[in-house]
Amino acid sequence: MTAATPGATAPWPTDGLSYGGDYNPEQWPRVVWDDDVRLMAEAGVNLVTLGVFAWGTVEVADDVRDWSWLDDAIGLLHAHGIAVDLATPTAAPPSWLLTAHPGIAPVLADGYREPAGGRNAWCPESEVYRRYALRHVDALARRYGDHPAVRLWHVGNELGGGNARCYCDDSAAGFRRWLHARHGSLEAVNAAWGTAQWGHRYGAWEEIMPPRGRHGAPNPGLFLDFERYSSDALLAHYLAEKEVLERHSAVPVTTNLMVGAGAQVVDYASWAPHTAVVANDHYTLVGDLPAGVREHDLALAADRMRGMSPGRPWLLMESSTGGPSWQRRNRAKDPGEIVRHSLGHVARGSDGAMFFQWRASRAGAEQFHSAMLPHAGTRSRVWQEVVELGGHLRALQEVAGTAVEPARAAMIVDDAAGWALQHGLMPHRELSYGRELGAWHRALWDRQVLCDVVPPGTALDGYDLVVVPTLMVVDDDTAARVSAVVARGGTVLVTYLSGVCDAHGQVRTGGFPGAFADLLGAWSDEFYPLQDGQAVGLDDGGEAADWTERVHLDGAEAVVRYATSSLAGGPAVTRRRHGGGSAWYVSAALGADGVGRVVDHLLAESGVPRVLEAAPGLEAVRRRRDDRSYLFLLNHTDDDQKVAAAGYDLLSGADVGPLTVVAAGGVRVLREPRRPAPG
Ligand code: GAL
Repeated sequence: MTAATPGATAPWPTDGLSYGGDYNPEQWPRVVWDDDVRLMAEAGVNLVTLGVFAWGTVEVADDVRDWSWLDDAIGLLHAHGIAVDLATPTAAPPSWLLTAHPGIAPVLADGYREPAGGRNAWCPESEVYRRYALRHVDALARRYGDHPAVRLWHVGNELGGGNARCYCDDSAAGFRRWLHARHGSLEAVNAAWGTAQWGHRYGAWEEIMPPRGRHGAPNPGLFLDFERYSSDALLAHYLAEKEVLERHSAVPVTTNLMVGAGAQVVDYASWAPHTAVVANDHYTLVGDLPAGVREHDLALAADRMRGMSPGRPWLLMESSTGGPSWQRRNRAKDPGEIVRHSLGHVARGSDGAMFFQWRASRAGAEQFHSAMLPHAGTRSRVWQEVVELGGHLRALQEVAGTAVEPARAAMIVDDAAGWALQHGLMPHRELSYGRELGAWHRALWDRQVLCDVVPPGTALDGYDLVVVPTLMVVDDDTAARVSAVVARGGTVLVTYLSGVCDAHGQVRTGGFPGAFADLLGAWSDEFYPLQDGQAVGLDDGGEAADWTERVHLDGAEAVVRYATSSLAGGPAVTRRRHGGGSAWYVSAALGADGVGRVVDHLLAESGVPRVLEAAPGLEAVRRRRDDRSYLFLLNHTDDDQKVAAAGYDLLSGADVGPLTVVAAGGVRVLREPRRPAPG
């Protein structure tokens, strides 16, 4: 894609930390708005995202616009000192447009065209959609591009949420153009995808189709390229809107990403450099997750954001004050969680906490979604906690603009690897990328070790420990960068299936894990995926589930061996020392205890320190600027925790330490005594 415009110098939308949420005044009579701004002031709200789904309420008919309510809303917010993150409302095309041009809507793999009525019901290759969208964005930017209230542009909403893939004919044509640009020639495409298999050689570009249908066995190269193309097609739309905005306005431009624990629907890491403020929407997923796991999921997502936004703050653009409405059973947050979860993001680099949405909607699809101002109004527990959070964020103003202390551990995560792992005719179709990388990150989190979660192109120079979990698709450059960590004395951990394929999805021959086998001094000749419920014993007392391999040593030593199954006696976990560095291989999906034991070795060997020593579930992260440091302590457990930490607690306004109690479920943020910045 086009050269990125790093937003390092973009002004932050608010003075200090940002606080607020999506504001949808168009859903309410005008009289309610006065109540809104009064209550926003009470809660300390200083930024709202306005107009996200307001295309149809402004452009009421083709090229006929009623700006009156939006003029009024922006003016009112400005008069009350509330900054506006103004959205281009292109996520939800108006009904008149979808009715006149139903071909705008995306087509699913089975040929079904999405009907109107949802959101993001547009195909990024639709020339009609693009024309109408940009025309409206142009009008919006001309009208408000230099309005003093507008401090940030918010392009669309969660691009890819609902339209991550489109399989229509326009997309097929776009895919072919993208392939031409990437590979140069049809012969190169045939070679990259290995189309000799099943006689799928292409003799003309028109023969190439998106992976339509339901057979579930597309050529892996085609599949991966279609995923990449789809991400780039959406990014191209974002960039087209951004370009129009920048034509009329100097206000920084962003869009809200959706980054969680596993593989994302689009490759947002490649989008982040094109945003002035890297912004994420994060909702705690519950299902059956116990407390602690929820918060770990949050920490992992936040660490991914920091990995996409090196050295500069990012912004939590959306989260919830309670149950969302799109999960099967929408869990309310327990008392204290709104504050703790929000400050968990701030601890890890977000310069603010924003929510969907300000006032709960009475009508419409999301009428039962939680909000900052719930249906029950200001006498609700949620409102009280929202006001409390606003007070905390004000108390933390001096933290704004500080950087999270540089991590010495990193984990390489790539959406393409996640896509490859979870699709097609795999040896095991139920492996989960999110589960595997979550297990390793969790063990570090449990030990209060900060870990940047970075995309493959990241420079690894500053890290003493690099973890590479199931990174199935790896190019030579990434493999070389990982090897360089070991060569300069660092520690690397590679887990099963990593490096098995090249960037085209072709298997690297000569023994698994292809790209890393030499570095690891160990290789395997055969995978032994396990059946549901099957476990293989290990000689350290642990067990493997899901995945095992027959490993051979070639310079490495066995640290843990298989103890049962036909692999008994063979290496399961290996280590190869190189000078001061070492390279570890884990050939099996270990349980949490096994992962923890390996992580203990890795930390001891690499010298990567814990922020402090505490029980699992006590989260500790430091942000700093020059010789000033702030220690965030978040207690996700049900017991009070006592830790060795001292300073002035910005939240309670008291000096604490040298031993500090963090109450069960509570948070402290300590301004620590001055000390020289490291390095
Ligand atoms: C987000 C979306 C919001 C709202 C929210 C509900 O994904 O951006 O507009 O729908 O989910 O949780």
